[in-house]
Amino acid sequence: MPRLFEPVKLGGLELKNRAVRSATWDGAADSQGAVTDEAVALFRELGRGQIGLIITGHAFVTPLGQGSPNQYGIHRDEMIPGLRRLTDAVHREGSKIAVQITHCGINSGYLRRQGITCQAVSHLDEIETPHKEMTGAEIETIIADFASAARRAISAGFDAIQLHGAHGFLMSEFLSPFFNRRTDKWGGSPENRRRFHIEVIKKVRREISSDFPLFIKLGAWEDMPGGLPLDEGIAGARGMVEEGLDALEISVGARGSTPAEPAGASERVYFRKQAAAVKKAVSVPVILVGGIRSLKTANDIIESGDADLISMSRPFIRQPDLLVHWQQDEATATCISCSKCFPAGGRVLECGEDRRLREEKAAVR
Ligand SMILES: Cc1cc2nc3c(=O)[nH]c(=O)nc-3n(C[C@H](O)[C@H](O)[C@H](O)COP(=O)(O)O)c2cc1C
Ligand code: SF4
Repeated sequence: MPRLFEPVKLGGLELKNRAVRSATWDGAADSQGAVTDEAVALFRELGRGQIGLIITGHAFVTPLGQGSPNQYGIHRDEMIPGLRRLTDAVHREGSKIAVQITHCGINSGYLRRQGITCQAVSHLDEIETPHKEMTGAEIETIIADFASAARRAISAGFDAIQLHGAHGFLMSEFLSPFFNRRTDKWGGSPENRRRFHIEVIKKVRREISSDFPLFIKLGAWEDMPGGLPLDEGIAGARGMVEEGLDALEISVGARGSTPAEPAGASERVYFRKQAAAVKKAVSVPVILVGGIRSLKTANDIIESGDADLISMSRPFIRQPDLLVHWQQDEATATCISCSKCFPAGGRVLECGEDRRLREEKAAVR
């Protein structure tokens, strides 16, 4: 049996295979962040696809942490019944579901367009988005917001919680020497820059039981001048695991998480080296995301020991049933990594390439 289809445990959570649907903002929430019928249908389809673990798009823990329109919110108890519909839909199909919880920090196009000032780790002259450096009290409030969101996640029936610590959002801004220029206890040394993560993990753990599965998607380094060096990212990962994480999904901090590949490009796994380096340093399972498109590569990553699980986002947008295909043959995913799939203009997530082909066909008729 291909290694991808072997079961695995993340903390106490048993998965039927080692494939993860990486968190993907789908634009399927309503304007208040609540789950809609379209969202339930989307997750039902993913649930049917035999994916070991499905992670929701990032859900904001406070309205000032919202990054995109029609993004799920987990900021109020009123969101729980809708989120329960998502977990029920996935469980009915026999899969497991985690919620990714987030604060988007300075990186919120949504707040910018609303004319709302973003909460930032530090004030940065080089960033145009209107933002304001947070006070210590504001930081403590956000930590409490993460903990309340975790409590809601349990009430909504999620099997696990993933903290969003990647892609230039608030958690990765704290870790990054480029974005974090604070001189108080939240900035300066690497230990201070990861204090926010440690405090979030501690407070979240207090809200959930000690054995409830808690993960992070970690931007383990940044490929930019003044960005997070990998050795610091690895030391951070180790510290966070000691505080009680059950798995790490490895991605990048600011910039480069979802590159648009040129037409005809062959498969390119973006962060394999970095994930392998983190894996050597930690005792919990490591999940690798970014650019994986074939069963052969997925198995090779797991067999080589570079990561324990693999995660994909865009391939499951085009083929929610990709794993069913992979159980039957070795076909490569049809996703061409063009990144034309970000929801826009109030549209729910769909493959932009399929849309383009459909429109081309209609124009010929
Ligand atoms: C439409 C879209 C929405 C995304 N939303 C999120 C998100 O909410 N949280 C997150 O951590 N990553 C998000 N990502 C990044 C993916 O999870 C993943 O890290 C990235 O696309 C690389 O994996 P892939 O090559 O398999 O697509 C998103 C990507 C896409 C294409
Ligand atoms: S638009 Fe379709 S083919 Fe292009 S990256 Fe998105 S899912 Fe893949």
